[in-house]
Amino acid sequence: MRKVLILSVLSIMLFSCQQKQQASAPSQEMPAKPQEAKAPQDERAALASEKGCFACHDVNVKKVGPSFKEVASKYEGITGSIDTLAKRIKNGGSGKWGNVPMPPQNVTEEEAKKLAEWVMSVR
Ligand code: HEC
Repeated sequence: MRKVLILSVLSIMLFSCQQKQQASAPSQEMPAKPQEAKAPQDERAALASEKGCFACHDVNVKKVGPSFKEVASKYEGITGSIDTLAKRIKNGGSGKWGNVPMPPQNVTEEEAKKLAEWVMSVR
């Protein structure tokens, strides 16, 4: 995450230097590009780590909760599974994998959706 910040700051600096040299060049999108170039996969895994998901989950191995691969294969091909999982991530859930419930997570709706998409992509 910090790397992304540093990258954006650097690119903004670079951008403003270029502007001084060739003030006529209208390249407005410059500062946004380095962020887009980052692999989204890494970003979402970093988000999962930041949100503490790995305290109870692992991509490959069952811990307190099911492995994300297990989750992905259980919901593979089910319509709306990303929305379902996003809701469960945000509000918590129980009874799908055993007796231990998952508490609601401190994520925004948007983050929950990103995480659900990521979970479904790890299989
Ligand atoms: C305190 C432990 C804990 C934390 C932290 C946790 N989970 Fe879970 N998670 C569980 C448990 C336990 C289950 C199984 C619940 C059940 O049986 O329905 C689960 C289930 C899930 C499922 C499957 C839901 C379903 O309905 O099949 C997903 C997806 C998931 N977690 C994602 C996440 C993400 C993403 C995070 C981080 C934002 C996270 N979890 C953080 C314990 C946790």
